[in-house]
Amino acid sequence: MRVVVTGGAGYIGSVVVETLLAERHDATVYDDLSEGHRDAVPVAATLVEADLLERARLAATLRAARAEAVVHMAAIGRVAEAVVNPAKCYRVNVVGGLARLDAMREAGVRRITAAVGARRPGDQDLAEIIASAWTFATSCA
Ligand SMILES: NC(=O)c1ccc[n+]([C@@H]2O[C@H](COP(=O)([O-])OP(=O)(O)OC[C@H]3O[C@@H](n4cnc5c(N)ncnc54)[C@H](O)[C@@H]3O)[C@@H](O)[C@H]2O)c1
Repeated sequence: MRVVVTGGAGYIGSVVVETLLAERHDATVYDDLSEGHRDAVPVAATLVEADLLERARLAATLRAARAEAVVHMAAIGRVAEAVVNPAKCYRVNVVGGLARLDAMREAGVRRITAAVGARRPGDQDLAEIIASAWTFATSCA
């Protein structure tokens, strides 16, 4: 399968790319390298250095790669950063997420896998996390 991995130069995305290549899929990484590392992208993968918010660029990348699926890992997952800079977090995670869906629609790509959250031992109950995330999301919106 031909897959575009957004955030494919990051911690989780780079392992996804390695795994895809090991299983003989084609992988294109779409990452602005704001947190990710060029060296984490295997040479067998194509790297497009661009921002998720550049919808037209992402749509062009999906078309050029003849992508059949997207694995979406371009996000800010660190709670501390969301607290310090909620506007940045909203822009990347929410606005960027919508731009990605629009780009997929434009390019006719229908399959997507995305990470939806992280939890560590000792964290709050899941219900509490969802309730506080909802409060955060509505106060951002
Ligand atoms: N790290 C964990 O333990 C963990 C666990 C569960 C879920 N997740 C989720 O997985 C996803 C990826 O997490 P990670 O730990 O790999 O983070 P990471 O910061 O290592 O990777 C994110 C990648 O996205 C890129 N990126 C950020 N903003 C971008 C933008 N606007 N345009 C293009 N690229 C952009 C960064 O350069 C980086 O390479 C997040 O949604 C996170 O919540 C992470």
